[in-house]
Amino acid sequence: MAKAMQNKGRAARVMGDMTDKVQASQTWNSIFRPGSIFRKGYTDSPRNRSYVIMNSVLYHLHPVKVKRHAVKVSYTLCLGGLSFFLFILLTVTGIFLMFFYRPTAAQAWNDIYALQTNVAFGLLVRNMHRWAAHLMVLSVFLHMARVFYHGAYKPPREFNWVIGVILLTLTLLLSFTGYLLPWDQLALWAVTVGTNMMGYTPVFGNQVRFALLGGAEIGTDTLLRWYVLHVLMLPFVIVIFMAIHFWRVRKDGGISGPL
Ligand code: HEM
Repeated sequence: MAKAMQNKGRAARVMGDMTDKVQASQTWNSIFRPGSIFRKGYTDSPRNRSYVIMNSVLYHLHPVKVKRHAVKVSYTLCLGGLSFFLFILLTVTGIFLMFFYRPTAAQAWNDIYALQTNVAFGLLVRNMHRWAAHLMVLSVFLHMARVFYHGAYKPPREFNWVIGVILLTLTLLLSFTGYLLPWDQLALWAVTVGTNMMGYTPVFGNQVRFALLGGAEIGTDTLLRWYVLHVLMLPFVIVIFMAIHFWRVRKDGGISGPL
């Protein structure tokens, strides 16, 4: 019994020594900055808690201080956060779909069909992608309504409202370009109607329609064009605008408060 206790004590001492050595190393201290709770000598104080956030790249994404109302789910309904979450989900499921889909008129629909029938979890992931897309349009719209209801578009947040309008447009464009990709009758006719409507753009109508279709009428060139827009260009642009949007929320003093 006494021997066992002795061994336990020795093991604890060895572990303690090792922890001390690791925590004193240059590598450890280059990762955990001064003030970090993982660094030796940390004392808990309001100022040190701020340092922890300010001095770490990862924690830096979070604000140093958050207003009490801002963490209340009932204030924002977390609709902006939900829109962002859905975007991440769409990215992950979208990458999965890309492994099984080729954007040509001859292969697209067959690939989607094969994905649903032959690929493990194919139908589930396709439906997750589709439903998340519908939900994102809804959540972005509701988020905009929430911001409007709270008057959060007023100074100093007007610029972020403008960025928001761009985000809404990009979300709708992502949704619309994705709609064509299954290359089924629904998609073909929806895009035909949509591009015909854009053909009525004043002055440049025909050019806009031609550019969107990649020709005089809908075909395999349209599919390739919309595919590139859907998987590459629009996601790239929306990520940039989301980064600006989040940065502005922080710069405008966090989210607006109740009046
Ligand atoms: C992809 C779309 C969008 C994402 C991911 C997004 C994300 C967010 C997040 C996470 C916040 C923090 C507070 C909250 O969750 O409500 C926020 C705030 C804000 N958003 Fe968005 N947003 C999007 C679209 C929009 C749109 C369409 C508008 C308006 C046209 C907008 C205007 C604003 C404004 C003004 C704020 C500050 C609100 C406040 O201070 O109360 N956003 N957004």
